Amino acid sequence: MYITYLKLKNFRNYSDQEFTFKNGLNILTGANAQGKTNAAEAIFFLCTGYSPRANRDKLVIKNGEETARIEGRAQSRYGEVSVAVNFYKNDNKEIFINGIKVLKIGELLGNIHSVFFNPSELKLVQESPEDRRRFLNISLSQKSKSYFYALQRYNKILSQRNNLLKEPNVSLIRETLPIWDEQLCKEAGKIIAQRNDFLKELAPIAEQKHSLLSSGKEILKMKTESGYFGSEQDIAYALKEDLKTAFEKDIKLGFTSIGPHRDDIKFTLNGDDVRVFGSQGQQRTVALSIKLAEAETFYNRFGEYPIMIMDDVLSELDKPRQRVLMKSVENVQSIFTTTHVDRTVVKSKDFCHIVIDNGRIKSVKN
Ligand SMILES: Nc1ncnc2c1ncn2[C@@H]1O[C@H](COP(=O)(O)OP(=O)(O)OP(=O)(O)O)[C@@H](O)[C@H]1O
Ligand SMILES: [Mg+2]
Repeated sequence: MYITYLKLKNFRNYSDQEFTFKNGLNILTGANAQGKTNAAEAIFFLCTGYSPRANRDKLVIKNGEETARIEGRAQSRYGEVSVAVNFYKNDNKEIFINGIKVLKIGELLGNIHSVFFNPSELKLVQESPEDRRRFLNISLSQKSKSYFYALQRYNKILSQRNNLLKEPNVSLIRETLPIWDEQLCKEAGKIIAQRNDFLKELAPIAEQKHSLLSSGKEILKMKTESGYFGSEQDIAYALKEDLKTAFEKDIKLGFTSIGPHRDDIKFTLNGDDVRVFGSQGQQRTVALSIKLAEAETFYNRFGEYPIMIMDDVLSELDKPRQRVLMKSVENVQSIFTTTHVDRTVVKSKDFCHIVIDNGRIKSVKN
């Protein structure tokens, strides 16, 4: 899958700019604060409806403007798809797929696939469990609408359950909770089962990528810490039982102490916990291995690779790893952002070089 066209209208520091990309290597260069990451963010938004840097959508609207728009076209083995998102100052959005307005963000997901990588994603291993759950959620939501909708419902029920746990009347809680828990566990079963399947698929590929990146010296293993296995129904049943056991504790805490919202992934290198014992470089290499493996899981499911959006990651890796990364994305579409092209790393002459200057394209060389 590859993106062919992008148009940004009052998006971040762009007023009105069109981009065309090639299927292969694209490199956006420019000095700091010119708009390279902004362009990468826009592409990722078209894929997921999610911005890795804005916690409020309206922040992407160019200062002083009322609305913003991202428009993109991508080519997949099934044909062309066009996606557009309008942003409004009141935080509302409108989404159009092939010109037709859709009402749910879930409709945006899965039209254009991408793997997003930036310096903060490089910290996937050392940062909080929430970041690792976000990785699972974004990857799985792009692949499976049933996952995305189960997650939406789960979060809603969870927040209602947490409100109820704060209720002073304990007997009311005791009466009402089983109704919530039935629904909560049903959605949790779907989420955990799909996460388990994903990690089972991802782990051996990540191990292989990591072996390549560490010249065969390190064996990467990863596993979920949720402790729930089996079918959706098995997981739902086991969690329901555990929620009963955790009841008193949850009342004391005023929130739900177990479930997929508390999941984590554990990584080991040659048997040692990477978070505890790994060097920064090792932790980054693990994150890179996982991202490269993630791309393979898209291929396994859809028969084509996602767009690899690589925002400012080259500068964070050493030369050998930069070279492995370049080699790994040789046969897919990639969009790199970097301050300059290092010819000792980028060997190919065949790439689209877009120079960004103050929210505009200064030059394009194909
Ligand atoms: N809503 C907005 N309206 C106008 N300008 C914005 C908005 N949001 C961000 N910017 C501007 O965009 C610029 C940053 O762009 P971006 O992060 O894409 O830079 P970059 O080229 O990736 O730089 P670096 O090399 O440092 O990563 C900043 O100057 C910032 O002020
Ligand atoms: Mg940047």
